[in-house]
Amino acid sequence: MRHLMSPLDFSVEELDQLLDLAGDIERHPEKYAHTCDGKKLATLFYEPSTRTRLSFEAAMMNLGGNIFGFSSAASSSAAKGESVSDTIRMVSCYADICAMRHPKEGAPMVASAVSSIPVINAGDGGHQHPTQTLTDLLTIRSLKGRLDHLVIGLCGDLKFGRTVHSLVRALARYAGVTFIFISPEELKVPGYIKEDVLEAGQIPYKEVERIEDVMPELDILYMTRVQRERFFNEEDYIRLKDFYILNNKKMRLAKEDMIVMHPLPRVNEIAVEVDNDPRAAYFRQVQYGVYVRMALILTLLEVHVC
Ligand code: NCD
Repeated sequence: MRHLMSPLDFSVEELDQLLDLAGDIERHPEKYAHTCDGKKLATLFYEPSTRTRLSFEAAMMNLGGNIFGFSSAASSSAAKGESVSDTIRMVSCYADICAMRHPKEGAPMVASAVSSIPVINAGDGGHQHPTQTLTDLLTIRSLKGRLDHLVIGLCGDLKFGRTVHSLVRALARYAGVTFIFISPEELKVPGYIKEDVLEAGQIPYKEVERIEDVMPELDILYMTRVQRERFFNEEDYIRLKDFYILNNKKMRLAKEDMIVMHPLPRVNEIAVEVDNDPRAAYFRQVQYGVYVRMALILTLLEVHVC
């Protein structure tokens, strides 16, 4: 039985197969409409989510399966003091697969150690968010036609943003990828990612503060929100929250075929005027998230469709 804790749990070849499957689902949704009839997905969300939870639920429903779960720790037995391990042992008796989001780094990993059903990490603290990464990879491959030889700018909260941490690890495995990290000093990408992933793999990267300085170089601009819930004090958040605001004036500096991505939710970091720019890909990204989660559920449940 397989779980998904990190995007690196899949080899590059397995990822290709998963993205191919997601592409087939996009083209022929009817072929998959009953592939999970009678199966159940549990969504165990100890932290707020709109997109990820609903995307998992839509994915399972599109496959003909059923869903149940909770959307906050307060509405689960965690409020009574139940451990994640006990909860997952119990959920294993009810469901065939589960997606877990938790504010503590490593909680889904703890669950997977005692679970008798596949566990999907749907975001653990500031650590990883592998299904957002699968979404991002499918978006990039669909819109840019490749995952290699790209210059990707990641902008905003690179310290706490788990989507950034997972995406960098995943893209670092493809040839010719260059990373440009755009952040204020306080929100730089963590040292362990620079050392263990980038320097260890001799992957080119640079760190800058001004988005305007690098805009013309980028094939992809990945914007992120400042992660308010991970700050130790509100004053720091208020000082940093509007550090970047992408607007049409800045977009004029970018390549004609650059794409703008964002895991969402957006706060102020992308002005709504940018939504009408054909290069804004963040809402299309949401749709790719459903296809890729359908492909992931089928893969982990070992459902094969001819
Ligand atoms: C992201 C997350 O939860 O890390 N949201 C999402 O799942 N699409 C990004 C964020 O909350 O900023």
